[in-house]
Amino acid sequence: MTASDFRPGLEGVPATQSAISDIDGQRGILSYRGYSIAELAAHSSFLETAYLLIWGELPDPETLRTFQHDVQMHRRVSFRIRDMLKCFPAGGHPMDALQASAASLGLFYANRALDNPDYIRGAVIRLLAKIPTMLAAFQLIRMGHDPIQPRDDLPYASNFLYMLTEREPDPLAARIFDSCLVLHAEHTLNASTFSARVTASTLTDPYAVVASAVGTLAGPLHGGANEDVLLMLEEIGTVDGVEAYLDRAIAEKRKVMGFGHREYRVKDPRATILQGLAEELFDRFGHDEMYDVARRLEAVAAERLGPKGIYPNVDFYSGLVYRKLGIPTDLFTPVFALARAAGWLAHWKEQLGANRIYRPTQIYCGAAGRAWQPPEARVAKNGDLTG
Ligand code: SDX
Repeated sequence: MTASDFRPGLEGVPATQSAISDIDGQRGILSYRGYSIAELAAHSSFLETAYLLIWGELPDPETLRTFQHDVQMHRRVSFRIRDMLKCFPAGGHPMDALQASAASLGLFYANRALDNPDYIRGAVIRLLAKIPTMLAAFQLIRMGHDPIQPRDDLPYASNFLYMLTEREPDPLAARIFDSCLVLHAEHTLNASTFSARVTASTLTDPYAVVASAVGTLAGPLHGGANEDVLLMLEEIGTVDGVEAYLDRAIAEKRKVMGFGHREYRVKDPRATILQGLAEELFDRFGHDEMYDVARRLEAVAAERLGPKGIYPNVDFYSGLVYRKLGIPTDLFTPVFALARAAGWLAHWKEQLGANRIYRPTQIYCGAAGRAWQPPEARVAKNGDLTG
């Protein structure tokens, strides 16, 4: 094994076999279990899509009803979890609150039976049901309010928006939010899903699997970019400011948030659909001038970054949709996580089905054969290395 075998970021290295989703990065096509994302976003619901991802087939009506019912029955969380969330600093990032609360479920549901399909189903239901409740509770608590209980009569997406905003959402808003969840539910072996699979491969519990994936999704090169896109658009401020901003970013070799993807050489199909959803929301609830800035940025970037295959990714338009839905900017990435939990759980189940612990190798490039010396015998070479 030599340094030439090393692929930074594991680019092009297959790290698993998977039947869950597929990307055609040249043509901009994404499918879940063989169904195109466009079709699922238009016709499916998040819970139906989650079922498809995890168990491989679209559920029949009775199976879907039972699944929806079971998720609904597990939405409530223990008062201990609410009390734990109250102890978190209000100024902390909700991704950290989500990661900690997802991990804490392992304390409440400690028995682990990874070879029992009922255990797998129960853990899937629990996580899909409780993540929205914990996230919404943290949002209300940090604003100084008491968290509100889930509403049993509301479907998944509506109930989350209700718990978050304390108002029953407009049906169009709820439908569009549900489509956003479908679009974010899965995306092959991205960094957080890889993290989930690595964690799963140790045969730890599913709460640790999801918690490790949440931590990975949080970074600005991954899911965290949706938050940064909106901050960037606000920094640009007006359509007229776009060209100068882009020139400066390119000259300073800064990444333009919401652009670029390891797998796509064209515009991410999810970005195209999200842009359409944003327009539907603007038509109904009023325009957002940041959308004009975003469209101008996309157009100018197509000239300057397009030749390198750099186009908008999923994070570019999602924030504009979430903002119109009344979701605070620092909840954009947690909302991504809420949806991606479906994909992580599908990969958890698939990993368990043919498990071997992940244990890649490395190419050592450090010193060798050194002899320890007492401190007084060491010649100061680099000063204090701990600073
Ligand atoms: C997500 O993988 C997934 O599936 C992730 C995701 C999912 O559904 O899970 O799709 C969600 O994470 C979307 C990505 C969100 N991140 C951002 O929007 C941050 C900005 N984008 C980048 O940092 C970057 O494009 C990545 C992280 C998305 C991809 O990184 P790669 O594949 O390691 O590419 P790279 O950083 O090595 O860039 C290759 C070249 C470089 O130029 P050269 O040095 O070769 O001349 O492309 C340039 C980069 O400078 N480039 C960009 C750019 N992205 C890449 N230049 C300007 N702006 C950008 N955004």
